[in-house]
Amino acid sequence: MNPVKPAPPTAVEEATTAGPNTLTVIDNRTGKKYELPVTNGTIRALDLRQIKVDGKDFGMMSYDPAFNNTALCYSKITYIDGDAGILRYRGYPIEELAEKSTYLETAYLILHGELPTREQLDEWTYHVTHHTFIHESIKKFLDGFHYDAHPMGMMISTIAALSTFYPDAKDIFNEESRRKQIYRLIGKMPTLAAFAYRHSLGMPFEYPDNDLSYAGNFLNMLFKTTELKYHPNPTLERALDVLFILHADHEQNCSANAMRCVGSSHVDPYSATAAATAALYGPLHGGANEEVLRMLKEIGSVSRVPDYIKRVKAGEHKLMGFGHRIYKNYDPRARIIKRIADEVFEVMGRNPLTEIALECERIALEDDYFVKRKLYPNVDFYSGLIYQSMGFPMTMFPVLFAIPRTSGWIAQWEEMLLDREQKIARPRQVYLGQEQRSYVPIESRA
Ligand code: ACO
Repeated sequence: MNPVKPAPPTAVEEATTAGPNTLTVIDNRTGKKYELPVTNGTIRALDLRQIKVDGKDFGMMSYDPAFNNTALCYSKITYIDGDAGILRYRGYPIEELAEKSTYLETAYLILHGELPTREQLDEWTYHVTHHTFIHESIKKFLDGFHYDAHPMGMMISTIAALSTFYPDAKDIFNEESRRKQIYRLIGKMPTLAAFAYRHSLGMPFEYPDNDLSYAGNFLNMLFKTTELKYHPNPTLERALDVLFILHADHEQNCSANAMRCVGSSHVDPYSATAAATAALYGPLHGGANEEVLRMLKEIGSVSRVPDYIKRVKAGEHKLMGFGHRIYKNYDPRARIIKRIADEVFEVMGRNPLTEIALECERIALEDDYFVKRKLYPNVDFYSGLIYQSMGFPMTMFPVLFAIPRTSGWIAQWEEMLLDREQKIARPRQVYLGQEQRSYVPIESRA
């Protein structure tokens, strides 16, 4: 007697017997079942490709505009838990780094994965500090910009131009060459930024002073006038350094994604960093703190805050500096920034817009509209107030973001390059256009 072929298991049975690390998918179009391995809480999108209606079918893809639910990579750099309001670089909480570290040490951590020893930090600082000067020809590019050119436009162009000075940067799989470009990029970003700023004022460029700290030297190149030696105010120097720490990385955001995507073509890191800087330039990314200041100015006084909030709730406009795609809790960076703001105001005087900001926050945190939608202050809510008090024009705000984010961009780039699974980034599309049709001569067109 032939053995009776057992009935195929039901989906529920299969899912139960398949073990905990798989996902059972039933295609209701065909009735077929598929078992997809689950690794680190994810399925591989390519495993979907086996799901086909028939032999001619290309196979299933996932549709995910804006990468809302697609992991692009495995990463070991930055961890964010948006619900709990947690941000860590290489496992270290942002609060501890902001209190105890410096930007250069944090940049080392982000790039190398571990905090440096004293010797490693000294060597790292030496190399970054000795790459702060830029080629004199770059000054000529800057001179070509109009006096009111946006400094981010100048930054994007001059960062890209650096690639023409360092053709060795194309050797991206040579570790020694990568190290050198990393020193150069982190060292030169403040110099390019300060030169762009002084160009907009028509002031002579101030060369780096390598005796000063990373933030101190940046302040020197921005604000030194006739004094023989610039002595940065220690409170402002530390405040800027902490702001740099807070902005050093934020995992797979728009500009980090631009860095990885452009870098995946194996272009040199200057060109990829120029692309990341361009992504940061957009008002939905690095430009929000500027919008916060405009909003606070528009509100004008504390007494007008309730009316403004009413209009926000009616959908007339957003409360800028509130809400975040990832954080559904108080952005941990906003908490630290609020403390720094007080320290800066003690030196520079209280920014008159602060009271309006505090009142917006007070009302919003108690209001059902904001509570229900989990809208809390983000990093941009107070940073603009600090930058303004320190004497920066609003156009410099995204530049102040780009300088420290360079370490994060390069870490993301290097991680991508060394990841054997990564290839040139090339998403798929779902084509919904015309089927094939024949060319119509112009005289026959309706
Ligand atoms: N003010 C008022 N309502 C808001 C705000 C806000 N700032 N942000 C979101 N909402 C509302 C939305 O209208 C929506 O309401 P609904 O459910 O009634 O339609 C709900 O909250 C969810 O908002 P989404 O737009 O779906 O949230 P998303 O994650 O797409 O947007 C974003 C996040 C872009 C940051 C948004 O909160 C925003 O525009 N905030 C103001 C701009 C800002 O501060 N950007 C800086 C972000 S930090 C950074 O990039 C460095």
